[in-house]
Amino acid sequence: MNQCFSRVDPRCLNPVVITLDSLTKVFPAPGGGDPVVALGGIDLHLDAGRIHGIVGRSGAGKSTLIRCLTGLEKPTSGRVEVGGTDIAALDGSALRAARRNIGMVFQHANLLDSRTAAQNIAHPLEIAGVPRAERERRVAELVELVGLTGREHNHPAQLSGGQIQRVGIARGLAAEPKVLLCDEPTSALDGGTTRQILGLLKDLRERLGITIVIITHEMGVVREVCDTVTLLEDGRISQTGDLLDVAGDPHGPLSGELIPLPPAPTGIDAVLVNCDYGQTGRFRTTEDLIRLAEAHGAHASIVAGIIETINGRQVGRVQLALRNHDDKPISPEGLAAFLTELDAEGVVAKEVTA
Ligand SMILES: Nc1ncnc2c1ncn2[C@@H]1O[C@H](COP(=O)(O)OP(=O)(O)OP(=O)(O)O)[C@@H](O)[C@H]1O
Ligand SMILES: [Mg+2]
Repeated sequence: MNQCFSRVDPRCLNPVVITLDSLTKVFPAPGGGDPVVALGGIDLHLDAGRIHGIVGRSGAGKSTLIRCLTGLEKPTSGRVEVGGTDIAALDGSALRAARRNIGMVFQHANLLDSRTAAQNIAHPLEIAGVPRAERERRVAELVELVGLTGREHNHPAQLSGGQIQRVGIARGLAAEPKVLLCDEPTSALDGGTTRQILGLLKDLRERLGITIVIITHEMGVVREVCDTVTLLEDGRISQTGDLLDVAGDPHGPLSGELIPLPPAPTGIDAVLVNCDYGQTGRFRTTEDLIRLAEAHGAHASIVAGIIETINGRQVGRVQLALRNHDDKPISPEGLAAFLTELDAEGVVAKEVTA
């Protein structure tokens, strides 16, 4: 069996598969104004065998970063190492060879309409000059790998959006890359199909040990599949780290987007406190918070909340309404003691003021 399709222990691969070192990209302004700093000094290490999310507003530099990673764009300065090779320093045939380590998946697979699914998957192998027998064997493996068995002879017009994206993923994997770069891979799909495609990407990571980088604006995608997340703002990294750390850091810019607290009802006659828990300390569940409130003579009810399980760990953000047992709002002293104890337990808690 081809090595690409055996189960690979990610720890056996290069431990840091992608290293960006002081990466900058400055475009001359069209029309001669100030140059545009698309990437203003990016330092980033992405481990092998993991799924990395890159998020950021429009114009933050995501596509420029991807284009530098694929060697389509030459950086103004800095290193772009993929699997130990500095892509930025290569040209011509050496660059083409290095680019085989990198597969691409796009929002729209842009398949050739005149070709079947199998023929679309075979296309990059034909261009690379892979002999016919080898090509057919590999396409058959890829069809099975991405769950297209029975559909391989369909033309794109006879495939659903999810099946078309499966063809796009198989095509991205054809050259047995070390890294699969996915640019908004699910943005054109409905919710159910998105989950299926994300399930496929997770499965590929497990089966192939491949490193996946996903550019997305969908926080649900990040929550569902990413091990790490990096936020780009104006060409710079403003937050990066393991998903659990980033989601559970209420002071960071991404936490509120990854775990947004839904709006609470208005006009509640109680002291309202927002609590972020689960990241550090002993407090792991909302019951812990409610029990602590009880210990301070207060009854806590949850008026808004969101609880996500990330890498097997609950991370929650809730709004509690605190009342004394005579149904009056908790006293200032009781509240201060409750907040102090929460703080000592690693729960970030803040009274909501009008
Ligand atoms: N070829 C170019 N020439 C001049 N400026 C460019 C060029 N390519 C990108 N830029 C500028 O660089 C900045 C980053 O663009 P980029 O396309 O990387 O953003 P993005 O994060 O991918 O945005 P989006 O989410 O809208 O796709 C923008 O200000 C953009 O206008
Ligand atoms: Mg873009």
